Amino acid sequence: MTQETASINPRELRDAFGAFMTGVTIVTTVLADGKPLGFTANSFSSVSLDPALLLVSIAKTSSNYQTFSTQGHFAINILAENQKDLSNTFARPSDDRFADVDWQLSANKNPLIGEVSAWFDCTTHAVIDAGDHALIVGKVEAFHSAGYAGLGYYRGGYFTPAKVSAEVIAGPKVVVSAIIARDDKVLLTRDADNKWLLPSTEIGKEGADKALADLFARYQPDASASFIYAAYNNTETHYQYISFLCSAPDEAAIAGEFVSLDEIGPNQFEDAAVASMLERYRKESQLKSYGMYYGDHSQGTVRPLLS
Ligand SMILES: Cc1cc2nc3c(=O)[nH]c(=O)nc-3n(C[C@H](O)[C@H](O)[C@H](O)COP(=O)(O)O)c2cc1C
Repeated sequence: MTQETASINPRELRDAFGAFMTGVTIVTTVLADGKPLGFTANSFSSVSLDPALLLVSIAKTSSNYQTFSTQGHFAINILAENQKDLSNTFARPSDDRFADVDWQLSANKNPLIGEVSAWFDCTTHAVIDAGDHALIVGKVEAFHSAGYAGLGYYRGGYFTPAKVSAEVIAGPKVVVSAIIARDDKVLLTRDADNKWLLPSTEIGKEGADKALADLFARYQPDASASFIYAAYNNTETHYQYISFLCSAPDEAAIAGEFVSLDEIGPNQFEDAAVASMLERYRKESQLKSYGMYYGDHSQGTVRPLLS
């Protein structure tokens, strides 16, 4: 639908803005008496690397408007896929949105929520009047990225890309493997011949989601899946292999070990397809630009995932 400026319908405008996919954040601060405040916002945007700046847009009708536009400090908590309930809690009226929330105070006196995908601890750099909203520009004083897959928001609904792709994969003869990456290292394990392999398991009726959860419990309980990195058939065994790129907050593996891919040659892997996939990962992780492979165990295509 085309809308002329003179006759813009706010509802339809909001729907059109909703065509832009975003993540979901909770913006937090504390009052002088120590009471934590927060609201859900998807208008977050990164702004500048040097100096490190970000912004969030707050409605002037919000009961939090006065506080957030004058307090001088705030944090952005980027929600992880499993934190949909937190998003709803911080968008609904409540006397204490933090009642059942795990949080701690940052160095800049802002509540940081537990298990988020990333947080940014800010001082307020500028407040810019912008129609019925104000843009609060924050100077990032500290930040942390845990790497959990983020919660998505699109056309008024939440989406969970990593979880959904894991849930839809099921069936016989499907093997799921986890590329649990930490900086330039990947969690690998060894077979009886001392060859390296990825944590992997054949999935049962419950699907890839459960198979991944089992792998994390066995190798690195704090790991989480980000996206499918490769999907291929072995045309000889007729097995299908799905590899998820996953991240972990630390290198504390229960089983296996985090190994730098620079230190392993292709012959040291149990499986040639895994060796070539991890060689691709080694190169792509340097550029921070990943693709997804699909095809069979020896030939296929890589499609860019993020560019
Ligand atoms: C997914 C989602 C995104 C939102 N994004 C924003 C936003 O960017 N800015 C804003 O002011 N309100 C946003 N809201 C609405 C506020 O969270 C909500 O209206 C507000 O917290 C209402 O309570 P308050 O008056 O106590 O602030 C969003 C709500 C949801 C569910």
